[in-house]
Amino acid sequence: MGNKAKMVLEKDYKISEIDNRIYGSFIEHLGRAVYGGIYDPGHPQADENGFRQDVMEMVKEIQVPIIRYPGGNFVSGYNWEDGVGPIENRPRRLDLAWRTTETNEIGTNEFMKWAKLVNADVNMAVNLGTRGIDAARSLVEYCNHPGGSYYSDLRVSHGYKEPHKIKTWCLGNEMDGPWQIGHKTAEEYGRIASEAAKVMKWVDPTIELVACGSSGRGMPTFAEWEATVLDHTYDHVEFISLHQYYGNRDNDISNYLAMSLEMDDFITSVISIADYIKAKKRGKKNINLSFDEWNVWYHSNEADKKIEPWSIAPPQLEDHYNFEDALLVGCMLITLLKHADRIKIACLAQLINVIAPIMTEENGPAWKQTIFYPYMHASVFGRGVSLNPIVSSPKYDSKDFTDVPYLESAAVYNEENEQLTIFAVNRHLKEGLELECDIRNFDGYEVVEHIVLENDDLKQTNSAKGTPVAPHSKGNAMIKDGLVSAVLPKLSWNVIRLAKRKLF
Ligand code: AHR
Repeated sequence: MGNKAKMVLEKDYKISEIDNRIYGSFIEHLGRAVYGGIYDPGHPQADENGFRQDVMEMVKEIQVPIIRYPGGNFVSGYNWEDGVGPIENRPRRLDLAWRTTETNEIGTNEFMKWAKLVNADVNMAVNLGTRGIDAARSLVEYCNHPGGSYYSDLRVSHGYKEPHKIKTWCLGNEMDGPWQIGHKTAEEYGRIASEAAKVMKWVDPTIELVACGSSGRGMPTFAEWEATVLDHTYDHVEFISLHQYYGNRDNDISNYLAMSLEMDDFITSVISIADYIKAKKRGKKNINLSFDEWNVWYHSNEADKKIEPWSIAPPQLEDHYNFEDALLVGCMLITLLKHADRIKIACLAQLINVIAPIMTEENGPAWKQTIFYPYMHASVFGRGVSLNPIVSSPKYDSKDFTDVPYLESAAVYNEENEQLTIFAVNRHLKEGLELECDIRNFDGYEVVEHIVLENDDLKQTNSAKGTPVAPHSKGNAMIKDGLVSAVLPKLSWNVIRLAKRKLF
């Protein structure tokens, strides 16, 4: 076939309306995510709350719709009560998850205030490690009940008259992992999650709940865990979670870029398990997927071993991402879009300093990692309906994968704005990919812009000094007689933006 790929897009070939929450992210009390990330009162960019405004601007640039908080492993040892009320009364605690000291200067209310300033909702996790259903239902009451009860009045007394109205809640974190504080068997977790869910919804019936799935496809309990947990929780939850991180540990780029195929397989497997439980229960509702931790994570593993225990906000999990990581993140975003019918929440883990697209320098600027760009493009241009493209692409085999398409692609149609966006990665190491995309069904559409992220050096990173890995808009996409043609440069992330002529 040569290095040519074809795509056909039709307005009516739809996967699903995209839930904007798939462009969510995550902030944990870990490393410099909170302290030194969002909050740094001594920094010249700090506002009256101590929040860094340069960081807030970058978060707003991504248009992050929802942010998971406060963990992660941290939440399984967290007493939410430590983080509310007068700051001078808040205890310092040992965080056993990350072996650091937590000052509790930032807690639920401060984080809610920050999230509001960046226009994001919060996906709040409750502690089902050291705590249980009592702390979970109290936190829902504290956050969501209008007033006239102990915890809602406590919130009011802390200066927050209006309830936070948090809609999405996680029932703990990675409870299948032996590293988790309060690690549980699937039976133990299924029971506590189901009881917590029940009473949390008795406090506020409008909330939506995410049960913990496996902390990765490689876990020995994977699949059985999901089935058991959903067997217990089916009637009380809306979502089951997925977590997955990848890394190019063998320095094998062909194999690395194919890892999104494994992510795809993971998603399909979890959908099958959720549907099996639905069938078993003669249920009516689908359990949807919350892919609430996904990213590349491996660069910082060695450095983290050297961190002094019990430090306050040390530089943990500070992966410096290179160009090839941005390509895999692009492939992972496309994979999420391909499953927009069942994935309704996803969180890039994490957002600031900790395995993050945004980094901060102490007393210095904030800067954008390589992965910032595909994430920002997908969030900003990927709102609408995920289309079901008919794609044909040449393929290759790698160490762990067969039939890996050189072209990884998804398309999003925004009917309201009359815009069509094609996201595409060319996995070919040496050659450009000639793409021809039939959009004859989109009458009067023109190319607005063809954004490309490319770099000759796969290991190139960005830093506070500069961003050599940054996109340009010099891609050569053009349209003639309803056929879009473009050359996708070797190893590149592409965003081909089209819109109905009258718009520009
Ligand atoms: O995102 C970093 C950590 O990865 C989270 O705390 C945990 O849930 C996962 O193992």
